[in-house]
Amino acid sequence: MGQALDTCLAGLTADRRSVRAYRNQAVSDADVRALLEQARQAPSGANLQPGTFVQVRGVVREQLCAKLMQAWQQGQQETEDYAYFPKPMPMTLRRRQVAAAQALYGALGVTRDDRAGRDLQFERNFRFFDAPVALIVTLEHDFGPGGYMDLGMSLYGLMLAAQAKGLATCAIGAMASYPSLIRQQLGLDAHHTIVCGMAIGYADADAPVNQTQTTRCEIDEYFKVLG
Ligand SMILES: Cc1cc2nc3c(=O)[nH]c(=O)nc-3n(C[C@H](O)[C@H](O)[C@H](O)COP(=O)(O)O)c2cc1C
Repeated sequence: MGQALDTCLAGLTADRRSVRAYRNQAVSDADVRALLEQARQAPSGANLQPGTFVQVRGVVREQLCAKLMQAWQQGQQETEDYAYFPKPMPMTLRRRQVAAAQALYGALGVTRDDRAGRDLQFERNFRFFDAPVALIVTLEHDFGPGGYMDLGMSLYGLMLAAQAKGLATCAIGAMASYPSLIRQQLGLDAHHTIVCGMAIGYADADAPVNQTQTTRCEIDEYFKVLG
């Protein structure tokens, strides 16, 4: 039993990829709910269970995406609720960021100087990559880093639960670029920090963008044993 579970979890973590193109196949409400039931089993400091997952559907989703894409196309800028990346970005991290971008745009055949090609792909963030399920993930606004840590566990739990059901996911940090617009469209008050979006659906295995292959740094850079 233990061995089988270990193999199963190893398979889920190894096979999970960020998927940015989806088949036109609905995900049932029951399946979405089941994923969130699993995500919320994540541990959290003092069992505070921070965060909210807001599924946007129908007209609400259409209007949100239309406004987001319009804001992006017009070059509108907002102050984000929280800073995701270190500023300045240390060189080691910058190299990883560049490698991830190269993997993505390389899979799409978008060259480094093809600004329009990059923009087109970036814009797809604001359509949740046309995934059948679209979530906006928020956090109660007074949380410090601990709340983000807790939420990250739920997000990964959700991703693995989806993977186990044959579903694919992509977290969408780009959503955090327009917190006020999102709050306004969804009628959320200022106490909701906009953390990220999440796309969920059945992967379009043939889509070039889904051939993106990222790597990981050496385990010895990540895991240190002292003493
Ligand atoms: C919190 C978070 C936010 C992310 N935001 C975006 C995003 O806005 N757009 C995107 O295309 N990918 C996004 N990603 C996906 C990462 O680029 C991806 O996880 C990373 O390159 C590793 O690739 P993998 O998920 O396929 O293993 C995000 C991932 C996480 C965990």
